[in-house]
Amino acid sequence: MSIDAIIRKDLDIIRDNLLEFKDKIRGSLFLVTGGAGFLGSWICDVLNSFDANIICVDNMISGSESNISHLYGQENFSIIKNDVSNLTISENVDYVIHMACIASPPMYQKHPIETLNANILGTKNMLDFAKRIKVKTFLFASTSEVYGDAKIIPTPESYCGNVNLFGPRSVYDEGKRAAELYCYSYHKQFHLPIRIARIFNTYGPRLDAKLNTQYGRVVTKFIYQALKHRPLTVYGDGTQTRSFCYITDQIEGLFKLMLVPELDGKVINIGNDEEITILELAKLILKLTNSKSEISFESLPENDPKRRKPKINKAKRSLRWKPKIDLKTGLHKTIEWIMSEN
Ligand SMILES: NC(=O)c1ccc[n+]([C@@H]2O[C@H](COP(=O)([O-])OP(=O)(O)OC[C@H]3O[C@@H](n4cnc5c(N)ncnc54)[C@H](O)[C@@H]3O)[C@@H](O)[C@H]2O)c1
Repeated sequence: MSIDAIIRKDLDIIRDNLLEFKDKIRGSLFLVTGGAGFLGSWICDVLNSFDANIICVDNMISGSESNISHLYGQENFSIIKNDVSNLTISENVDYVIHMACIASPPMYQKHPIETLNANILGTKNMLDFAKRIKVKTFLFASTSEVYGDAKIIPTPESYCGNVNLFGPRSVYDEGKRAAELYCYSYHKQFHLPIRIARIFNTYGPRLDAKLNTQYGRVVTKFIYQALKHRPLTVYGDGTQTRSFCYITDQIEGLFKLMLVPELDGKVINIGNDEEITILELAKLILKLTNSKSEISFESLPENDPKRRKPKINKAKRSLRWKPKIDLKTGLHKTIEWIMSEN
């Protein structure tokens, strides 16, 4: 099986933007947890395009075999279907990229303990492993959700957060906060070369590939609803905002955070700062899909953040990175991909 043309073209773009790192990547051994998920599978593909060696770990709770099955059988790729919290690995890997965690809000609310375990027990297990084998870099996938319902917009890395410890989103938000604290403490106490990416909403081909509209994240959910001519379900009055980053920009940012020298111990927001209301997003998707669907309004979930927009000055300065794909272009590609898959 091969990768489809839409993803292939985007992979070439990411590769071109990372050529300066090719000698660091080629031949190195990378452990990618959550490698069968949305972001993890793009990371595996970029690594593969640079002839890296890859161990992908995934328990498949929210990932999809179809995201990575094209790599099966290759000499440089192996998959371990296991939970990160009780995983034992004997290889001496060069880099750990720790992505494993359910990221869709309805899905992590359905699996609260699994979400906490992946973040807390899983992160500790991976940090202990990384410490034992002395990795070059441990990249941790954190989230904008550590800011909760942020009161400072755009939100800088220095913002301490406004998170409800016992809210419906807290297993994810507080789980990631605890995981960040573990990473930070392993850096402080053991000098482990950790780097933390605070990822803001990212979308593109493969987002929630196997999840249906009940569990898919908002971009996937709206596109499926629009293509099936079902009502687009907007929570509240739709005035809450998000800032959506296209996959190629996000993956480029994550690789730069992992590979640019002298960033150990750093925490950096990676996202697009183009802010849009959820209602505007729904209308844009209706237009781009030529859909006749209506918009239906449902009650706003508890603790749904009102605004979400990253301050990305630090990424621009430290990584010489900025998002390049505007929302309309990225949505076009995502819609095209979803249509080609269905
Ligand atoms: N995509 C985004 O917009 C976004 C935003 C912020 C943070 N993140 C973070 O990036 C990471 C990847 O997100 P994604 O969007 O690719 O989500 P995803 O659900 O597509 O991928 C996560 C992968 O981790 C696997 N997984 C979950 N728990 C596991 C466990 N205990 N052991 C082994 N594997 C496990 C899942 O099966 C899945 O393949 C997550 O840590 C997420 O919190 C993503």
